[in-house]
Amino acid sequence: MEEQARAVLDPAAYDFYAAGAGDETSLAEAPGAWRTWRLLPRVLRDVSRVRTTLDLLGTPLSSPVLAAPTAFHLMADPEGEVATARGVAAAGSLLVLSSRATRRVEEVAAAAGPWWQQIYALRDRDATARTAEAAAAAGAGALVLTVDAPYLGTKPRVRRPLPLPDNDLTRAVGLHTRGPGQEQDPSTGPEAIGRLHRLTGLPVLVKGVLRADDARHCVQAGAAGVIVSNHGGRQLDRALSTAHALRAVAHEVGTEVPVLADGGIRTGTDVLTALALGAHAVLIGRPVLWALAVAGASGVQRLLDTCTEELSDAMALAGVRTLSEIGPDLLTGP
Ligand code: FNR
Repeated sequence: MEEQARAVLDPAAYDFYAAGAGDETSLAEAPGAWRTWRLLPRVLRDVSRVRTTLDLLGTPLSSPVLAAPTAFHLMADPEGEVATARGVAAAGSLLVLSSRATRRVEEVAAAAGPWWQQIYALRDRDATARTAEAAAAAGAGALVLTVDAPYLGTKPRVRRPLPLPDNDLTRAVGLHTRGPGQEQDPSTGPEAIGRLHRLTGLPVLVKGVLRADDARHCVQAGAAGVIVSNHGGRQLDRALSTAHALRAVAHEVGTEVPVLADGGIRTGTDVLTALALGAHAVLIGRPVLWALAVAGASGVQRLLDTCTEELSDAMALAGVRTLSEIGPDLLTGP
């Protein structure tokens, strides 16, 4: 699908979506890292009925495969994030809406099923608060505070300007004129978690954690969940693959709060591996953009449905019927 998307996307848009930071080592390693684990299937279990349903922070979902927050969907589809939201909802999944979205939050919310709002702690704290409050008012089920980007990672492949319309939304996210204070606040500490929770009453998940000690600090500071992520290899290049960071984080906090993971997850077997390593759900980033570029909302739905079907098949062959039956005993290696 990436090749098909590349054929229809503006080359600058393709490069923006595909890019990783630095020499793209973390980007290149991510999918292969999931494939280093080996499965130990259980046999002689009744797997005539397999279910991929779950409850995530009180929200019932048909699949643990969620859509990661990614910027600027208008470059992939004329309806942008509204089309993404429709496709994700049709798949019974959950959308994490980027704070760098190119459609208004109210428009996206109107098309969405369950959705969460991704947030950066900006130098301009009022702007951060406005984003969080607008999301809460529009019906977001949670906030996702991304913490792996105190500064924007350098991506040599990204060329500007990007093929986006010049409007107040794209200006607000600093695409055309960088407003003062619109960049991330590099002095942000754990107190930002409680601040966002008190402001909106919403659960706050923290995205971009790779270390067990950081996961512990986040939970102590009030995080309702932790997302193991290296930002799809777009921030610190050579950051550890999430397939190798996940287990320690899940071991530290996974019985207290949901632990999610993203980065290079491309097949249902990758999802099964992540769940066996302790994830409650996973997110996928770039494939959603490729699907959106190739076939709009229905492409996004088909992508998520396919991944969920692959997961269901892998679960049956591994001898598990429900997500809660997936445990660390299914894995060995690397
Ligand atoms: C991202 N990601 C991201 N994360 C975030 O918290 N806020 C954001 O605005 C963005 N924007 C963004 C744009 C693009 C083009 C990409 C590819 C990624 C990171 C994203 O949420 C997720 O962590 C990774 O994309 C997961 O890796 P895969 O599935 O793309 O390999």
